[in-house]
Amino acid sequence: MSDKNYILAIESSCDDTGAAIIDGNRIISNVVASQKIHEIYGGVVPELASRAHQQNIVPVVDQALKQADITKEELKAIAYTRGPGLMGSLLVGGSFAKSFSQSLNIPLIEVNHMQAHILANFIEDANDEKPTFPFLCLTVSGGHTQIVKINNYFDMEILGETIDDAAGEAFDKAGKILNLPYPAGPIIDQKSKVGNPLKFKFAKPKIEGLNFSFSGFKTSILYFIQKEVKANPDFIEENIDDLCASIQRSIVDILMEKVKKASDTTGIKQIAIAGGVSANSEIRQRLKDGETEFDWKTFIPKFAYTTDNAAMIAMVGSLKFDQEIFTENTAKSVAKYHI
Ligand code: KG4
Ligand code: ZN
Repeated sequence: MSDKNYILAIESSCDDTGAAIIDGNRIISNVVASQKIHEIYGGVVPELASRAHQQNIVPVVDQALKQADITKEELKAIAYTRGPGLMGSLLVGGSFAKSFSQSLNIPLIEVNHMQAHILANFIEDANDEKPTFPFLCLTVSGGHTQIVKINNYFDMEILGETIDDAAGEAFDKAGKILNLPYPAGPIIDQKSKVGNPLKFKFAKPKIEGLNFSFSGFKTSILYFIQKEVKANPDFIEENIDDLCASIQRSIVDILMEKVKKASDTTGIKQIAIAGGVSANSEIRQRLKDGETEFDWKTFIPKFAYTTDNAAMIAMVGSLKFDQEIFTENTAKSVAKYHI
């Protein structure tokens, strides 16, 4: 029997099927099968996602074990995403994790996907330095937008969150209005590099406190584009780079304003970021600028650990394993699962 604490983790909350193996905080393998099928629909179709998870889960787990060069008998526990996420998707990963842990007679560990995004910062090779407690984390992806205060590994407080669309959705929906393919976030980022961010102005939400709202912003883009295209059918093509840059600037401004407010009100200057939108070059730059402007220390994990992935689930699994926090086989998947 190996003296390593190998834990297999499974992520299936949305449209990525992931499996990873960890030992302590060192990732041994990290496999993700992304589902291309949703591109043609311009967003994730839940029923198709759950069917694709069923097809992907066995090969993905098999690959994770092979890449780690270990056998299933060497595993000490199975961690899985219990929620939040799409119910059909969660059920596939959850059922697999339960049966696998039962057949191997090893503990099962449930993981909250939102906690995992944040705790990905503690993976050995996620970044050069690790945050110390307390720190703030801006979690921004296609499904989530939250500012969280992390007092300890499992003691977190949501200071603010979106009341409608997520930041990634704002990018993707704006992209759809501009006839860009899904997901539009990375394309908008690319085009923004050569566009003028001050060319167009869109309505910014007026939301009290640390919450976010992006639906009014999206509607303001839609009405603006409809009006302009009526006058000039080539308006989008002629202005695409400036439109992207202006939209990106607005979204990043909205996010940064609240992060600054959260830092000012809590007095916390360690700021981490998580989720797929943290790949955005402007948000990365603005956070880095905060180090000189506001005396912040920022933590941006490497990209493979910020989008939906099983390595972050494995990290939480490992922390819970050390504390012997295990889960009953009867635990139900939870679509809305608070930190
Ligand atoms: O974390 P993630 O892979 O999956 C979810 O949990 O949603 O995040 C995907 C989101 C999409 O909305 C995508 O457009 C956005 O992250 N995204 C970006 C960039 N790369 C990915 N948004 C802006 N700029 C980027 N470079
Ligand atoms: Zn996520």
